[in-house]
Amino acid sequence: MNKKAILLAGGAGSRLFPLTKIVCKQLLPVYDKPMICYPLATLMLGGLREILIVSTPKDLPMLRDYLGDGSQFGIEIEYAEQAKPEGIAQAFLIGAKFLDGSGAALILGDNIFYGKLDFFRDALKIDNGACIFGYQVRDPQRYGVVEFDAKGKAISLEEKPAKPKSQFAVPGLYVYDEEVVDLARKLKPSARGELEITDLNLLYLKRGDLNVKLLGRGMAWLDTGTQTSLLEAGNYIATIEHRQGLKVACLEEVAFRAGFIDSAQLEKTIAGLPKGEYRDYLRLVCDEG
Ligand code: G1P
Repeated sequence: MNKKAILLAGGAGSRLFPLTKIVCKQLLPVYDKPMICYPLATLMLGGLREILIVSTPKDLPMLRDYLGDGSQFGIEIEYAEQAKPEGIAQAFLIGAKFLDGSGAALILGDNIFYGKLDFFRDALKIDNGACIFGYQVRDPQRYGVVEFDAKGKAISLEEKPAKPKSQFAVPGLYVYDEEVVDLARKLKPSARGELEITDLNLLYLKRGDLNVKLLGRGMAWLDTGTQTSLLEAGNYIATIEHRQGLKVACLEEVAFRAGFIDSAQLEKTIAGLPKGEYRDYLRLVCDEG
């Protein structure tokens, strides 16, 4: 069954203050484009075209101004408010009507993936249960952490544990079957008052329905949660773009190459862009066909 996608661009961005005093975190630059382009491109590269963006009442208008209804990218974007920061899993309660009984991918608006996305496309094929990922990091205590037994089976999940049981963090990209909304409704707020995504994943784990796939070393999962990691992510993207002369997460290009828009639609977009490097790049993309 076809899956829809939710992109959660929530949070107060307090760790990035004062950068986030006016502009929301997900619109801060990661090198040459706003942060939200990267997770949105990931969803599009997964083949997902019905996307709900969930954000705060303050930030939603700006995100809507920037991305519109998605038609310029050949996708459908809807918007919904998360009135208070009451947790990642709340996105499924907010998005229940939008999902309308279909399965879902969820991506966090500050998660950047670079590399071959086959792992995500494969996960989207599942009909039953959930699929999350594990990625080795130096500082797992900052994330959800997954522990495996000797056979590589996931046996525990903990949110930001003081003493992590493994080095494997759970990135902010999740795939669920159509039961996700019903399961999210069963969650109770955690000690910090949030519906935790880790608790939702634990429900699937307890049912024996949680797949956890490790992302290999060839995959980059970048963090943007601190000033330093935001700068590092920007430098990473700049390095790759300069080396190849190709842009990462250029939404018009992703849409064009995926066949979501045709050259006439791309031409129309280009005509509306200000003169500059981004427009020159899309001109090349369009001419190359
Ligand atoms: C959230 C999740 C955490 C996950 C992380 C990925 O943390 O709660 O499980 O590992 O995203 O970015 P937060 O960004 O709220 O600190």
